[in-house]
Amino acid sequence: MIVGTIDQYNHAFPHAPLNLSFSGDGFSLRTQGNGKVVRIVGHNERGALYGAFEYLSRLAQGTLSSNVDYTTSPSAPIRWTNEWDNMDGSIERGYAGNSIFFENGAVLANLSRVTQYARLLASIRVNAVVVNNVNADPATLESNNINGLGRIADAFRPYGIQLGLSPYFASPVNISGLPTYDPLDSRVIAFWQNKTDEIYKRIPDMAGYLVKASSEGQPGPLDYNRTLAQAANLFAKAVKPYGGLVMYRGFIYDATYDKADWTADRAKGAVDYFNGLDGKFDDNVVVQIKYGPVDFQVREPASPLFSHLPSTSMALEVEVSQEYLGQQCHLAYLPPLWKTVTDFDLRINGTSSRVRDIITNKRFKHPSRLGGSAAVVNVGQNSTWLGSHLAMSNLYAYGRLAWNWESDETEILQDWVRLTFGRRDPHLMNTITQMSLASWPAYENYTGNLGTMTITDIYTHFGPNPQRRESKTSGTWLRADEKSIGMDRTVWNGTGPGTGFARQYPDEVYQMYEDLENTPDNLLLWFHHVPYTRRLHSGETVVQHFYNAHYSGAQTAADFVRMWQSLHGSADLDEERYQEVLFRQVFQAGHALVWRDAIVNWLHNVSGIPDDLGRVGHH
Ligand code: GCU
Repeated sequence: MIVGTIDQYNHAFPHAPLNLSFSGDGFSLRTQGNGKVVRIVGHNERGALYGAFEYLSRLAQGTLSSNVDYTTSPSAPIRWTNEWDNMDGSIERGYAGNSIFFENGAVLANLSRVTQYARLLASIRVNAVVVNNVNADPATLESNNINGLGRIADAFRPYGIQLGLSPYFASPVNISGLPTYDPLDSRVIAFWQNKTDEIYKRIPDMAGYLVKASSEGQPGPLDYNRTLAQAANLFAKAVKPYGGLVMYRGFIYDATYDKADWTADRAKGAVDYFNGLDGKFDDNVVVQIKYGPVDFQVREPASPLFSHLPSTSMALEVEVSQEYLGQQCHLAYLPPLWKTVTDFDLRINGTSSRVRDIITNKRFKHPSRLGGSAAVVNVGQNSTWLGSHLAMSNLYAYGRLAWNWESDETEILQDWVRLTFGRRDPHLMNTITQMSLASWPAYENYTGNLGTMTITDIYTHFGPNPQRRESKTSGTWLRADEKSIGMDRTVWNGTGPGTGFARQYPDEVYQMYEDLENTPDNLLLWFHHVPYTRRLHSGETVVQHFYNAHYSGAQTAADFVRMWQSLHGSADLDEERYQEVLFRQVFQAGHALVWRDAIVNWLHNVSGIPDDLGRVGHH
């Protein structure tokens, strides 16, 4: 067996040099003689490591019997995770126990879980991890924590994983006692350069900064009437000498909106704030954009911001953490949801502009060649990492997709099943495949349909609470009155103005969403305010669709229990995992009934329209 980089290989075998066409962290894996002769060659060291993991994966899946000759390269250099861990050991939107990084305001003494996590992430080709919450604590970057962060970076390094950090924008005030954090103030610039130098002294391969600023109450450049680009470039200049990156988040919106104003709309925020800034970012800045314009909902149109920054590097942000999607207590296999966005064609200038081609830099060919994706992941001290065995398919799939967004989500899932459970029992393979592929559609069915988003409680983001969403100044209303429902995001609906959000898309997409007839059913109520009795393309009325979808989604969740029970005693499933997953599936089935009854009864109350099938409103 040979494992090494291409340079090492060609140095060792100067008379038979290899000429492989790969790039970035790519590698080549070749086996001959029924797997007895193995050659793993990486474009760089990371690639050699990834090749070794690929070999192990194929070995475990039993696919090495025929000769392999496989060369692959990543679609993009940025394949990061973002952990929202707090210094006190809690995790924002964490559902799997406490932090593996921090405790009591400092880095943990024992980082053995961090080493395991690094190995896990390297096996799915993730190459950097931002370890602290985007709602950053100024204490993270204080001098007494830098050695601890360095120890995390040391644990990551053998696995080709770089550490990234979220800075608190007002740190010049909080840490240094300066009177300002204005990004153009020379003292502020000096503060960030010194702080960055201090970090790189301990962590020479630090990946860079992930910045949340002027969003949801966080301090930021808008406090000084500076632009987002001026803020991003402040950090970009500080990390530039070290080859570092700045991931500048696009998740920016006003905190409150007035429901009486029919043009108020949180979804418009990001494009408005980035208006006029394309081309103004330094070349080591990447704008990191959530898949949808609001916030990790069960269904959203692709964020229009992807179409507004042709001269800026961009990355996609997804969530492995199931914040709005059942918080790891519900099964929801998310790649099909992510692909509704990555496969979406924004038709910029009337030409093919799929989101996946934008984030991998194929569409705009930015000279920096940057681009890629980040996943918010909430692993914790729980021995299953995510608090749920089946939720791990999302983390595995994220790595595979970040490498190549064109990969097939069913193949990825089945590789994961073989690697996680085994390959002896085809019934187990079929059952977990069926459950996983049915899970996101089921969740959408028993939560929010037709583009109303996930109608969760607006604080906990778990469980139904449609009325709380209606009464708040949240800017993402259902606007369900006695006759009609949906948020009118058109420019002009025929009789009056909507929020105008649809106009943020390039012409062809704008025309589709502006037009009630052409808007796909699954986003109808995202873009339009329509009578409950309006007929969908499917033939159902809006209200009857809600009733039917809720009953059918809850039924699917109930079916999952029976499907899982049919796996008891499988050769690929131990009793412990059988029981732990069963517990969650029973919970999900029950919670799906809570969802169903809460939403159908609420809808019946507001609309007064009974269910055609007599399940609601005929008491
Ligand atoms: C969501 C989430 C917050 C998080 C924010 C973000 O709103 O609920 O906890 O801070 O996204 O992505 O910054």
